[in-house]
Amino acid sequence: MRLDRFLSNLPRHSRADARLLLAGGRVRVDGATVRDGRVEVREFSRIELDDELLQAGKPARYFMLNKPPGVVSATEHAEHRTVLDLLDEPDKHELHIGGRLDLTTSGLLIITNDGLWSRRLTEPRSRLGKVYRVTTEQPITPEYIEVFARGLYFTYEDLTTLPAELEILSSHEALLTLHEGRYHQVKRMFGHFQNKVIGLHRERMGPLQLDPALQPGEYRALHADEIGLI
Ligand code: URA
Repeated sequence: MRLDRFLSNLPRHSRADARLLLAGGRVRVDGATVRDGRVEVREFSRIELDDELLQAGKPARYFMLNKPPGVVSATEHAEHRTVLDLLDEPDKHELHIGGRLDLTTSGLLIITNDGLWSRRLTEPRSRLGKVYRVTTEQPITPEYIEVFARGLYFTYEDLTTLPAELEILSSHEALLTLHEGRYHQVKRMFGHFQNKVIGLHRERMGPLQLDPALQPGEYRALHADEIGLI
């Protein structure tokens, strides 16, 4: 929300008051005086008026988790353990998942309370590639490379998938880079060739690589430089 809107939403201030407070240099955001009401503030911003604290700001939190198969990418589930159950953190209900994985898929999952940041990470507009290691039942042939690069038509959604890059590693293993996240997308793409995916593991989301030190089910906070990459 804009800072002038935040100020005029306070019960004792009008829009005109907000302009005066800002022009008088009486408002600070994260410790710095701000005179421009168009500045965006968020729930993470610390906002002060003179000596009064208007909003304390919440710490933004970012985690990477190595999701094991059999754990649901959801915050609540009636039957299965969820990825939030794997986190030993306070106020877990404030966190959400950036880019879900199917029940049987393993690998990199991002969990955060920063919605703007996670949207940048996952929305197709950002063009960040998500890299999956795929193991299949049948051999993978070079024909797949061209078909995936051209895009596949998904009848149910009435759309053609964005160009995806396939690197064949061996007869039954490949790395696939997607720039979007359609329902069961990898499995459906290989399904086009009647080739069943028997192992699916996400290794990377844009510049964020799954930490190889994380065993399945383990997680760690992102480092400041990793957060800054998105
Ligand atoms: N594609 C799938 O089929 N499953 C996932 O979990 C992610 C991508």
